[in-house]
Amino acid sequence: MADSNVKTTPTKPREVIVSIVAGLLAPLLAIFLIVQLVLGIQAGQKPDTSSEAAQKAALERIKPYAELAALDASAPVVEKSGQEVYDAACVACHGSGALDAPRFENKGDWNARIGQGYDTLVKNAIEGIRQMPPRGGNADLTDAEVARAVVYMANASGASFKAPEAAAPAEEKAAPAAAAGAVKPDLAMGKKVYQTSCALCHAAGIAGAPKPGDMAAWEPRVAQGYTTLYDHAITGIRGMPPKGGNPGLSEADIANAVGYMFSESGGKL
Ligand code: HEC
Ligand code: HEC
Repeated sequence: MADSNVKTTPTKPREVIVSIVAGLLAPLLAIFLIVQLVLGIQAGQKPDTSSEAAQKAALERIKPYAELAALDASAPVVEKSGQEVYDAACVACHGSGALDAPRFENKGDWNARIGQGYDTLVKNAIEGIRQMPPRGGNADLTDAEVARAVVYMANASGASFKAPEAAAPAEEKAAPAAAAGAVKPDLAMGKKVYQTSCALCHAAGIAGAPKPGDMAAWEPRVAQGYTTLYDHAITGIRGMPPKGGNPGLSEADIANAVGYMFSESGGKL
């Protein structure tokens, strides 16, 4: 038997203590090193907008705006300007060029992209493209906010796009249905308003904005009736901002534009 040949020296109490302390220190040291390693990896990591932590951080950043809007549920939505969105949600990558994002105020980075045109850029920013996450990883941003941030960035690098205007508080208390029912919309005027203020989203189908004449998209909407559609265009609904994000438009403008879109899509006025 091998055991019988092993000579064990009697251990002194001091040695016992030393070995116990050493036995405790080794795992502590190991834990310490692992923690350092993990922290190091985290610090070196590229921004990962899909992770829960990153989304939480993004939410933290935009919280002040969310709280503003939450103060009064009936208050108009406080939409951010292009610069505010950029500072909150885009600068992380587009400021430094992380993940090869085109850098802010760098014409070389942006030239070819701007050449793709406003619609494509906005669509890609909303839906994401390659390493660019949808809405910059900030799902709470509205389409108009993302579009404004795109315009802000593109214009800083040589483009001259026009941003969707901010939705301002509706000052005048309108009686929408009554106003809409009173006069028959002027379709020729409506077409003009549509082209300057609505086509921006509706011709390109941004965020599912229904394209006039696209019967499948309009059928259920036309079924709601012209007056309801007019109300929705005034107050906004889901991705559709109040007055299409253009507070300068009068109620008659909206009525005419909705009338135009409605009749182009099979509605009978
Ligand atoms: C996590 C990093 C990241 C964030 C945050 C981010 N982007 Fe990007 N973005 C990229 C990268 C990377 C590209 C280049 C993608 C490519 O072309 O391969 C890009 C490209 C783009 C483009 C050009 C798309 C094209 O068609 O060429 C636009 C426009 C854009 N981003 C807008 C935005 C906006 C607006 C925000 C903020 C709301 C934002 N980005 C936030 C990483 C980011
Ligand atoms: C910033 C983009 C944007 C602009 C600009 C815009 N719309 Fe829209 N609109 C949308 C989206 C997105 C929807 C689809 C909303 C939904 O049903 O979820 C929509 C839907 C609508 C609807 C259907 C509402 C319903 O109840 O189904 C009407 C009517 C409408 N828009 C009118 C207009 C008019 C008139 C203008 C111009 C004065 C305009 N829109 C400008 C994005 C826009």
